Amino acid sequence: MNIIDILNKKKNKGILTKEEIEFVINEYVKGNIEDYQISALLMAICINGMSDTETFYLTEAMLNSGEKLNLSSIDGIKVDKHSTGGVGDKTTLIVAPLVAACGVNVAKMSGRGLGFTGGTIDKLESIPGFNVNLSTKNFMDQVKDIGLCICSGNKDLVPADKKIYAIRDVTATVDSIPLIASSIMSKKLASGCNKIVIDLKVGNGAFMKNLDEATKLAKLMISIGEYFNREVVCILSNMNEPLGYAVGNALEVNEAIDTLQGKGPEDLTKLCLYIASYMVLLSKNMVIDDAMKLVSSKFADGSAYNKFLEMVKYQHGNIDNIEISKNKVDVLAHETGFITEINTLKLGEIAGMLGAGRKVATDKIDPTVGLVIHKKVGDIVSQNMPIVTVYYNKPVENIEEQVYECFSFSKVKKDKDDLVYKIIK
Ligand code: URA
Repeated sequence: MNIIDILNKKKNKGILTKEEIEFVINEYVKGNIEDYQISALLMAICINGMSDTETFYLTEAMLNSGEKLNLSSIDGIKVDKHSTGGVGDKTTLIVAPLVAACGVNVAKMSGRGLGFTGGTIDKLESIPGFNVNLSTKNFMDQVKDIGLCICSGNKDLVPADKKIYAIRDVTATVDSIPLIASSIMSKKLASGCNKIVIDLKVGNGAFMKNLDEATKLAKLMISIGEYFNREVVCILSNMNEPLGYAVGNALEVNEAIDTLQGKGPEDLTKLCLYIASYMVLLSKNMVIDDAMKLVSSKFADGSAYNKFLEMVKYQHGNIDNIEISKNKVDVLAHETGFITEINTLKLGEIAGMLGAGRKVATDKIDPTVGLVIHKKVGDIVSQNMPIVTVYYNKPVENIEEQVYECFSFSKVKKDKDDLVYKIIK
């Protein structure tokens, strides 16, 4: 077998065999296939697509490229959640303790991630002292002790995805449905869970810009789940504006804490209750109404917040000293009117420019910077009212103008889109 024949086959819209896909992944991880060759293959896949069967084989080859976590010594059905990525998405910080408070063990290895703001692990690291680097044994012991642990992903899980994702990021090959589906599902399968809830973001701040594309991705991930005997539920949610108000690591942790205390933004609270309910439903075999009742009660009576505090204490964090940059500037409305649209992707990029995210794995994040959005789609603003506060440490040219340009206004009110578009199972 050789890579040039495989490249030619995919270029000519051929269907790759299991052996060919395994060959590419194994040899690439070993360093026997060059980055420029994998880049050519990724671009051919982006343009010509993959059959479902090819995608199952790709997921399997990526999954088998590294270690797999064995969670069988932890009681009960293990449910994991994943978000396809969006601006202001801090749901894991709220959902994981909420589900654990409902009596479901949550053993979650999360990532740092590339993008506008850090991943869950970067966010947790903005809590002084919080230890995200646990051995697998300590991770498992903590779950057995308190039913909840979030720590940094084991470096040996799915090494193929780490290498391929870094190339996709710089070759405009991220937004391919089979590549996204195999990337996400190989990581979830390696994480040792039995069931998976995916928060699939749809809108101008997400990979999936419309419901048709998002539905295709959801159905493909559900089929991959069936191939591997795992139940998958996809919640398609709105990413035409940031989730909640805070964008940036420490700011998002503070907002997650407010939310766990019942003082959070309505959209964030509602989405977290939804995701948690589906996780509880899958692990306890409940009907959705009962799962929602249980989740809402553990949220309202403070159990979820107490579980979060238990996890922070166990991992040596201190939420009393979370640092936010002292340098801030308000972006003011130039006119009176309703907000009709927010360029969510651009807002995310601005947070990244401030230092809240990283472009390459070696970039260092500034946890103290970011944006707090005061007004969202459908809200009315009057002239000189602050619509965003920017927290910064290094100057970004024309920051106020850049932020302001992310907002569109009209004299006529535009209704908000739905927060949850649909659930696909
Ligand atoms: N998230 C992932 O983990 N992988 C992708 O390809 C896209 C989003």
